[in-house]
Amino acid sequence: MIIKTVSLIRLLLAGVSVALVATRLMAADSPREHLSLDTNWKFHLGDDWPDALHLENSGTGSGPASEQFTDSYWRVVNLPHDWAVELPFDLSADGSHGFKALGRNFSTNSIAWYRRTFGLPKEDEGKRIWLTFDGVFRDATVWVNGWCVRHHEGGYYPFREDITDVLHFGGTNIIAVRVDATKTEGWFYEGAGIYRHVWLEKTAPLAITPDGIFVYSKFKNNVPSDKAEIHVEASLLNSFTNEMTAMVNCEIISPEGKSLGAFKQSEVVQGESRGTTKLESKIFAPVLWSPESPKLYELITTVSVAGKVIDQITTPFGIRTVGFDPMNGFLLNGKHYEIYGTCNHQDHAGVGAAIPDALQEFRVKKLKEFGCNAIRTSHNPPTPELLDACDRLGMLVLDESRLMGSDSGNMKKWDDHIRRDRNHPSVAFWSIANEQFMVQDTPQAANVARTMQDYVKQLDPTRPVTYASPEDNVFRGINSVIEVRGWNYHYGPDMDRYHAEHPDQPNVGTEQASVVGDRGIYANDQEHGYVSAYDVAWPGWTTTAESWWSFFAVRPWLSGAFVWTGFDYRGEPTPYWWPCVNSHYGILDTCGFPKDAFYYYKSWWTTNTVLHLLPHWNWPGNKGQEILVEAFSNCKQVELFLNGASLGKQGMKPNSKLSWRVKYAPGTLSAKGFDDAGNVITETKVVTTGDATQIQLTPDRNTIKADGEDVAVFTVTALDAQGRVVPVSQNKIHFSIEGMGNILGVGNGDPSCHEPDTFIPSVPTRDIAVDDWRWRLAKFPKDSSAVPEYANDFDDSAWNTLDAKTSGGEPTIKTENTMAIYRAHFTLTDEDLNGSGAQACFGGADDEGWYFVNGQFVGESHDWQAQPIFDIKKFIHAGDNVIAVGVNNIAYQGGLNPNVTVKIVGHATTAPWSRSLFNGLAQVIVQSTRDAGEFKLKASSDGLEPATAMEQTLPCTPRPSVP
Ligand code: GAL
Repeated sequence: MIIKTVSLIRLLLAGVSVALVATRLMAADSPREHLSLDTNWKFHLGDDWPDALHLENSGTGSGPASEQFTDSYWRVVNLPHDWAVELPFDLSADGSHGFKALGRNFSTNSIAWYRRTFGLPKEDEGKRIWLTFDGVFRDATVWVNGWCVRHHEGGYYPFREDITDVLHFGGTNIIAVRVDATKTEGWFYEGAGIYRHVWLEKTAPLAITPDGIFVYSKFKNNVPSDKAEIHVEASLLNSFTNEMTAMVNCEIISPEGKSLGAFKQSEVVQGESRGTTKLESKIFAPVLWSPESPKLYELITTVSVAGKVIDQITTPFGIRTVGFDPMNGFLLNGKHYEIYGTCNHQDHAGVGAAIPDALQEFRVKKLKEFGCNAIRTSHNPPTPELLDACDRLGMLVLDESRLMGSDSGNMKKWDDHIRRDRNHPSVAFWSIANEQFMVQDTPQAANVARTMQDYVKQLDPTRPVTYASPEDNVFRGINSVIEVRGWNYHYGPDMDRYHAEHPDQPNVGTEQASVVGDRGIYANDQEHGYVSAYDVAWPGWTTTAESWWSFFAVRPWLSGAFVWTGFDYRGEPTPYWWPCVNSHYGILDTCGFPKDAFYYYKSWWTTNTVLHLLPHWNWPGNKGQEILVEAFSNCKQVELFLNGASLGKQGMKPNSKLSWRVKYAPGTLSAKGFDDAGNVITETKVVTTGDATQIQLTPDRNTIKADGEDVAVFTVTALDAQGRVVPVSQNKIHFSIEGMGNILGVGNGDPSCHEPDTFIPSVPTRDIAVDDWRWRLAKFPKDSSAVPEYANDFDDSAWNTLDAKTSGGEPTIKTENTMAIYRAHFTLTDEDLNGSGAQACFGGADDEGWYFVNGQFVGESHDWQAQPIFDIKKFIHAGDNVIAVGVNNIAYQGGLNPNVTVKIVGHATTAPWSRSLFNGLAQVIVQSTRDAGEFKLKASSDGLEPATAMEQTLPCTPRPSVP
């Protein structure tokens, strides 16, 4: 409960930079630390410890869940990480998820473990420590220092825990995460693993709650004027047992970096409670946010107690209004704003679902190139960094939930989702769900939709709500209660009828088109799984870009729409199946290379002059045959030429395209574009090239930050002797890198390519089963390491025999001061000693064990469920080796558990990186290291002149992270 004690203070007005700088409460004074926990995770693929979760007692997780577990030979990975992208393709896998060898039929590939060790200084004692996962696909179980702190299902929702209670302050801590990606949520590629960021947050005991700031602007009648009301809601969490009085101070910084003043309010927060403080201010002559001018303000919220700063958070925000009108459609800043939208899934070539922040930015920029001004995050909540990029670069977002449901579990996710995303100016409206075929017309679905929609209004009074409905003129169930009618497909008379019958309900095209086409392919080819890039309606339910857009373009009440899709994505190979593994719906391929459709949309969604011809003009063997030539252009007229001879001039209808049938002759196919007055305003050509002779590497940027996160995206092409891109080249290109960069992934946009996207190190291992044991009872202090029975040459020939593999261990009798001693031999070669390591892996001991190799102590276990692993490299030698274990039984009976192995670990090797060009193009994504300098990317291919690209990585301050 919060008791308001002091009335609002409104200090300041826009345009005036008040002298607050001197008194600004400094972030450095706040104990809050927001630390990235992305680097140096240990990773193991495989469900080798299926019984790690123990529910009978706390802190008894075994295998990697246990603090004592040794992960020294696990691979090191940085987050975001998607292990699905590393897996091979397999015809027996789930095609809708891209035929990756994952899921029910591939149990050894579908569960993995991540572990991360970190230190916490003693001085942090007294702070609250939060662990946040932005997204894990899919079921995650999290242990901290052996305590199971969370089980989370749902691959698209963030989850966080206050882990303060179980931490070692002034010591080492271990996070273990078991990720089970067997189950799926969608019908498209979804990745596997910790594919979004992880954060460690340190706060004072009284602090702003996670996602605890909400800032929004309001104008009279939702139309911007010279005075914006600024509303701030700040939620505080008081972990002290006693009541605390806190001062919440808000300062607004203009897009130009000037302080616009501060306003504050004092609050009394009761002990062990949370509550929300509401503050208001005004900004005069506000600078509005829009995709064309994405101006961001900042709100600095500082909390102090008795004059001492205890928390500070900076929240970027934008001032703008959004709304819908039944006649004028979507309104941005009070005016009709046509939505030139695309739906997108979240994977990219090379990296799968684990997209570095810089690649989010790359993708948003690519979409903007053809005029896209809005993304629908189909069909799930996005990663926050995508929204950051949309805020900065100017891109509206239709932010969609994964599932519809008013049950407490789904509403909690909806709540988390809205609170996390509601400060982003890019987020323009919410979608409660996509295509709920089974239930959408029922009264129950109407109830659920109403509940979800009403909840939005409680948490976010500024944004409209829609549902991506796959129905035609149907006003039942969800459609009858939803604020904005969403339209997935069904353009045509049904829409007009619906609009006429429900004139008070606004509309938006939530999903349209589903036009299929592959870059550089001009004939359907079922055998290889390719579809033609001409703008044709095929298969059944799809439309042409021209047909759906022509319909929408003249109906402002429809608000525009979201094309299915902006980028190609893995999975949903339609209409063909294997060997195709990707969708073909994208305006861009999986790398972001434009398909021909890019130019259709660019013609009608931007004001740039566009003139694009298709297909390419390399058709050896087709001389004299008719080829369909299309022109995507917004010129008033277009004239086509073949080798200089005119093939006719045609007028362009708005939102349309032109076509000619042309008898093929090699050479130059060219076109001129004319304006209204008949002036040539642009020209273009496609030429018949020679064979590829050289490789070209072109980065998207010439410098990147040396923060270990930034990426450069290289386009790889093959040129002919005259330096022209050869549009049909398919050469296999090999890559190597030197210096301050690492290759993250490679791709080429080929929807049927089964080449690997990543080349990860493989480590050979040799497992030696240690099965033939001898044992006997002995009387001596249990933890003594000096007893002769542990020595190599001790004669155990008269002891009892035991097959530890099958017998499940031999019972020891619980007798005071009596231990059971077990001994076994294993043989190693000289080659084994040259490996990178050796481990002794035990099935455990009931109840305590002391472990020796060649007479030397290697470790101990005190939990009957632990399955300890010890590094033994320094204790082994070629020839005969001896393992000895002393077991102390405490309760019931017990002994040495079965399945003891010695694992010899070889040296990691990585196959050289390579990728074939697909119709002239491939992509390499290179990530910087944290050392500034440069890297050199080399590309070579048989018969082609190689290429080298140098890129600078610039010194920068990396984001604060856990070492
Ligand atoms: C829609 C669906 C999308 C995708 C698309 C393919 O109905 O919402 O997720 O499957 O069809 O055309």
